[in-house]
Amino acid sequence: MTTTDSRPLDTQHDLLAEIARVGPSTGTTAPRAWLHTDAPTTVLDGKWQVRFSPSARQVPDDDWTTDTAVGEWGALEVPGHWSRQPGGTGKPWYTNVRMPFPSEPPYVPDENVIGDHLTTFTLDGGYLPHAVLRFHGVESAAIVWLNGQQLGTIRGSRLMHEFDISGVAVEGENVLAVRVLQWSANTWAEDQDMWWLPGIFRSVEVQARPVGGIDDVFVHASYDHITGEGTLSVEATTAGESITARVTSDALDLPDGFTTGSEVTLPVEPWSAESPQRYEIVVATDAETVRLQIGFRTVEIIDAQVLVNGSPLLLRGMNRHEFDPDHGRHVSPERAREELLIMKQHNVNAVRTSHYPPAPWFCDLTDELGMWVMLENDLETHTFYAFGYEGDPTSDPDWEEALLDRMQRTVERDKNHPSIVFWSLGNEAHPGPNLDTMAKWTKQRDSSRPLHFERDQECEHLDLWSQMYVPVEEMERIGQFSEDPLEDAALQEHRATLPFVQCEYGHALGTGPGGLSEYQELFEKYPRLLGGFIWEWIDHGFRETDEKGREFFAYGGDFGEPWHDGTFISDGSVFPDLTPKPALIDFKKVVEPVRMSIDGSTLTITNYYGHIDTSGLKFVWSSPSGNGQLAVEPVPAGSTVTIPLPDLVGEGLVTVSAQLGVDQPWASAGHEVAWAQRVPAPDDVPTVSGAAVDEKLAYGPAQFDEHGRLTSLFGTAVEGPALVLDRAATDNDLVKGHAYVGDAPADAIWARQSLEHLKPRLLSFTAEDDGSVVVTKRWAGFTEGAVVTESRWTSDGDQLRLDWKATPNDRWGDYWARIGVELVLDRVIKNVEWTGRGPGQAYPDCGQAARHGTWSATVDELQVPYLRPQESGARADVTDLVLQKGFGLSGAPFAFTVRPWSQAELEAAAHPSDLPETKRTHLIIDAAQHGVGSAACGPGVLEPYVLTPREATLTLLFRKA
Ligand code: GAL
Repeated sequence: MTTTDSRPLDTQHDLLAEIARVGPSTGTTAPRAWLHTDAPTTVLDGKWQVRFSPSARQVPDDDWTTDTAVGEWGALEVPGHWSRQPGGTGKPWYTNVRMPFPSEPPYVPDENVIGDHLTTFTLDGGYLPHAVLRFHGVESAAIVWLNGQQLGTIRGSRLMHEFDISGVAVEGENVLAVRVLQWSANTWAEDQDMWWLPGIFRSVEVQARPVGGIDDVFVHASYDHITGEGTLSVEATTAGESITARVTSDALDLPDGFTTGSEVTLPVEPWSAESPQRYEIVVATDAETVRLQIGFRTVEIIDAQVLVNGSPLLLRGMNRHEFDPDHGRHVSPERAREELLIMKQHNVNAVRTSHYPPAPWFCDLTDELGMWVMLENDLETHTFYAFGYEGDPTSDPDWEEALLDRMQRTVERDKNHPSIVFWSLGNEAHPGPNLDTMAKWTKQRDSSRPLHFERDQECEHLDLWSQMYVPVEEMERIGQFSEDPLEDAALQEHRATLPFVQCEYGHALGTGPGGLSEYQELFEKYPRLLGGFIWEWIDHGFRETDEKGREFFAYGGDFGEPWHDGTFISDGSVFPDLTPKPALIDFKKVVEPVRMSIDGSTLTITNYYGHIDTSGLKFVWSSPSGNGQLAVEPVPAGSTVTIPLPDLVGEGLVTVSAQLGVDQPWASAGHEVAWAQRVPAPDDVPTVSGAAVDEKLAYGPAQFDEHGRLTSLFGTAVEGPALVLDRAATDNDLVKGHAYVGDAPADAIWARQSLEHLKPRLLSFTAEDDGSVVVTKRWAGFTEGAVVTESRWTSDGDQLRLDWKATPNDRWGDYWARIGVELVLDRVIKNVEWTGRGPGQAYPDCGQAARHGTWSATVDELQVPYLRPQESGARADVTDLVLQKGFGLSGAPFAFTVRPWSQAELEAAAHPSDLPETKRTHLIIDAAQHGVGSAACGPGVLEPYVLTPREATLTLLFRKA
């Protein structure tokens, strides 16, 4: 194996120099593919001995690298992060752009924990004379010794590093010593938005390297969609030299004697994320056999559109960080498989491995289950934005070798995966010559995959044009090729040929994101738009227990970090325990690969898959009159059909559901992929009359006090109905973002309008001639804005109807959070049942997944346990609601929210576990709501969803339940 130079690092002085060294790993062998081989392999994971020193200046000067008698040392699980296990040290620290230490690149402070790790392992003769020692992930850097001999250093936390241990490893017991550095110069190139988590967090292995073995394989397997044939050639190398190895396959009809270096064309089934057809090939010499699951596919760019196997590609993607609430970035294959199954079940078809290569086996899973992958290099230098990019490693010649090495390790390790269709140079680093070097190398090494890098808007060496959190109007202009051109005509000419991808959009922090449908419409309309990747897949919340023994998921600041970025780490589509958040459930609906609509008695189906027809789906209808399966001829990819619905369906609400016809590896038969509804107009709310208010101010089931306040309803003590215009700030309400309306974050706009402090003044409380009771109030805070509400109550003695009207004066500006009423019930409500949209929450610009029906839930289930409590849980377009045990109400469509807490209590809690136990129930009934947008990072609430001050009405009919 070829090995880069290495030098011993024995003194403290050398250690400090190594920490500040700008450069790649040393002493490592050339990057290569991670292969499934029959060469003996020993995994060194398990309990290691460990010793921590607070600083390089305080490391003991002993010969620890050979000494195994270190009885007083602690024990630590490898792989694992220091701060996530007993025997470890320190706490997680979350920053996004800022570094966790002073801005003095490439230096790091003296306060820099050094973790000395030791383990012993036994090798038999099968590992001699040649073997490699392999690390898959060590944050942030390390120095490695075997049997007291220094092998070299590791740079590149999420990359694979191997050391040739031939002549160093011995038969019998070996001592491996790894000195891990919490921070290093390397850290300046790894400023991804995530927890800082030092440690050896991926597996460590020893692998025999047989003489005459196969060090590296590069499979080229393309597909010609016109002929239906695949073309296969395989390169194999040992010590950097091409070798001839046998290539065989039980699955493919390869010619006899087929070897590396030759090419064959033969009929095959192509690989796609929708139909992930893989073939096993065996590449063998007399000394070593490796097995690869290959897939045939061709990625091309034609007319600014990405085609795979001749079909347009539309990404419905997620940015995936590796995260486990207990183990941080040490994620098991079982958990990753579960993640992918959840993704597939929610119509996700693509993953960007933000912002580093995942565990080495991850793309085996994406190959197997079918997922388009943008494989991203381990690089982010975001913090240099604060210094005007000065000293950004991407432009500093001293960093060139290290950055190129990162990209080479990224590409070489994973180059044989059919699921990887794009390479990405990294994230948020200022364009610079070192990135150009990386780009040129990547394209020369692998011309079969388009290259991505979002920050470089000139795209000279790139094949995709990319941006994040693009405003919808800009997205449309790009779709139409009418974006602002680059000044340089040649660059513009090139960029105009490129497809456009949103490498991040739909920031899923807290309630939201709003506005996904608007993006999707454009993605489906303009061929240049490749779709995108939601930011992001998972909340990075650590499972912790508070002093009262209550479990919660921790975010930035919960570990006492002196500076941090708070909840910004909890912007996932799934909770840390992988429970889907409303964001994912809505995403599933928004990106349905099969889009249906019902118009009267016809159903239109458009197949947005790229590679499969709809023969794998069954179309099932249901309505109050029954249910059945529709006869639908397979709709080819990219086509639309319209068919009549059977007469049996009837007139009312009808739902058509497209479901898997047979079991798939990622979901069972019957799993719903898409749905559509025809929704009838709601019934009018009946009028009631006949009751008269008595001298004690009882009126049918209602009791008032002399101030016109409702005090009880059907025997339940209540307060209200009080006007509400405010909400407990969502994460999006706290940031201005690219707001469409207003000059400040929504929450600040609401605060300055005093929405939280509306005080009523009774204008009149009268019994009318028709028997109705009318209460008129003026509501105002410390501004000039006021709203007059008129509550007209009518009753027949049993039921009670409320006709409520709110009329604002003309002193309001900006917008409100909601217009509705709050009733506080002096009792615990445990269950609710409603007719309207459900089962999940819906706000005007999200909640696409909420469909019409009759639903029930516990009050607990109505809440969304966002890591920081906030406005959430509203159910929309409701015409009937039953609070058990309390009362029921029907009405003209309204939204309701039921929770045991006031908005103030909700807003005051830092975690769901901090919410108080109460004996009351807050019912908010909204006539209208403001959208939620995604201003925390990206567009604010789009104009159609902005709730400008306006008149509003509610019509509700209360009954006993
Ligand atoms: C992007 C960045 C992501 C993440 C996101 C905000 O700018 O690429 O890593 O920080 O913003 O959550």
